[in-house]
Amino acid sequence: MNTVRKSYIETFGCQMNERDSEIMGQLLNNADYSPTNDIQQADIIVINTCSIREKAEQKVYSLLGRLRKLKEKNPALIISVAGCVAQQEGERLQARMPLVDIVLGPQHIYRLPELVSKATLKGMPQIAVDLSPSFEIPRYVPPSPLMFRQKDERPVSPDHFKKFVTIMQGCNNFCTYCVVPYTRGRETSRDPDDIITEIMALAEHGVKEITLLGQNVNSYGKPLNNGRQHTSFSKLLRKVAAIDSIKRIRFTTSHPKDLSHDLIECFAEIEKLCPHFHLPVQSGSNHILKRMNRGYTAEEYLAKVDTLHNVRPDIVLTTDIIVGFPGETDKDFQATMDLLKTVRYHGVFSFKYSDRPQAKAVAFSEKIADEVKSERLSCLQDSQNKISLQRNREYEGSIQLVMIEGLSKNGDGQWSGRTMGNIIVNFEGPSTLSIGQEVAVIIKEGLLHSLRGALVL
Ligand code: 5AD
Ligand code: SF4
Repeated sequence: MNTVRKSYIETFGCQMNERDSEIMGQLLNNADYSPTNDIQQADIIVINTCSIREKAEQKVYSLLGRLRKLKEKNPALIISVAGCVAQQEGERLQARMPLVDIVLGPQHIYRLPELVSKATLKGMPQIAVDLSPSFEIPRYVPPSPLMFRQKDERPVSPDHFKKFVTIMQGCNNFCTYCVVPYTRGRETSRDPDDIITEIMALAEHGVKEITLLGQNVNSYGKPLNNGRQHTSFSKLLRKVAAIDSIKRIRFTTSHPKDLSHDLIECFAEIEKLCPHFHLPVQSGSNHILKRMNRGYTAEEYLAKVDTLHNVRPDIVLTTDIIVGFPGETDKDFQATMDLLKTVRYHGVFSFKYSDRPQAKAVAFSEKIADEVKSERLSCLQDSQNKISLQRNREYEGSIQLVMIEGLSKNGDGQWSGRTMGNIIVNFEGPSTLSIGQEVAVIIKEGLLHSLRGALVL
């Protein structure tokens, strides 16, 4: 009897990881594994991990502990750990958790089927974690049918019309708090022709929204490993915009120091480029920014934000902030609070500083007590919540173009979608609407994390 083998993938962390998991799913699908959401049914389990902030390793180890029973029941089950924790822990992970068959770092995800065959044939654990300074993202993995609806079907989830496309990976910046350069290696940009081929294939399958991904997405293009022609990020954006059926283009994550005038101009000129910019500032204090090795001052950052606001007044800005970085004084923290009031972000992701293996700041003196970090975090979040609510209230009475993602999570039968600026809108509308459709919605109420409205008839 030929039973279909099943794959189960669990993803932690960022959008890069979500895309990597999708690629591993595609590759397993091409190797005759079909995806399942039921871990009990799985013949292969992949845990795609993130180690950007603390407790990541413990989370993975405790999840693996819970898989022990499954492995005892089914010794042929292949358990793989991918991603940044895999890269960081390497052989140590397998030694501590012998039930793990495959450990693969972010540069090795494309080798998953080969590693699965080796683990199965040899019955030996496979560890693939060497980091190559000249790594190149493989040319192109054709999308597998499981990623899409059939041509004549209606989309049933946002997965059917919005996709991530990795355009670069790795990081050369070495911010002193950050583990990424050690887990994802050096920056490498994908060939622009490969990116366009991939997006055209997605467009053919009905995809309307593309998010270009990279650790440092706006430093795309320098340098292309294979020596081929340099394409700047703004040129790439223009090429993507030229694909007719792609209606919305987003990108993440950007580094303020690489925010060029060229890119700012794209926001004025490319209609499909969504007016949402996630621009992590991390701190408002020049003393801390320097210790973080961020490569810009608060004044330089604010000048770029000003230009962005001038070019695209409707731009939605979001950011990341770390509180309690070693040496952060009350005055430094106040500078961050002041910056938040000046920029008036729509949303902020804020974190307490934590030591990460290999990152330089581990060795920095003047570590901040956890109570102080917690106090600063809640002070910052209280103040930002007020700003976010005000920002969302400013939409009341306006008409927004919303791309429908499904029924609202509130279970009240309303539709839910996103504005061009990426803000969630729940709205009343007839059941004849469908996922992926773009509709005009009048905003009636701005809430902290979303907007409420009604379809414009
Ligand atoms: N401690 C706390 N936050 C961190 N981040 C990255 N490294 C750390 C760390 N060691 C945050 C940064 C980054 C976001 C993805 O995670 O704000 O932009
Ligand atoms: Fe980490 Fe800094 Fe690179 Fe972002 S730019 S991935 S924070 S080292």
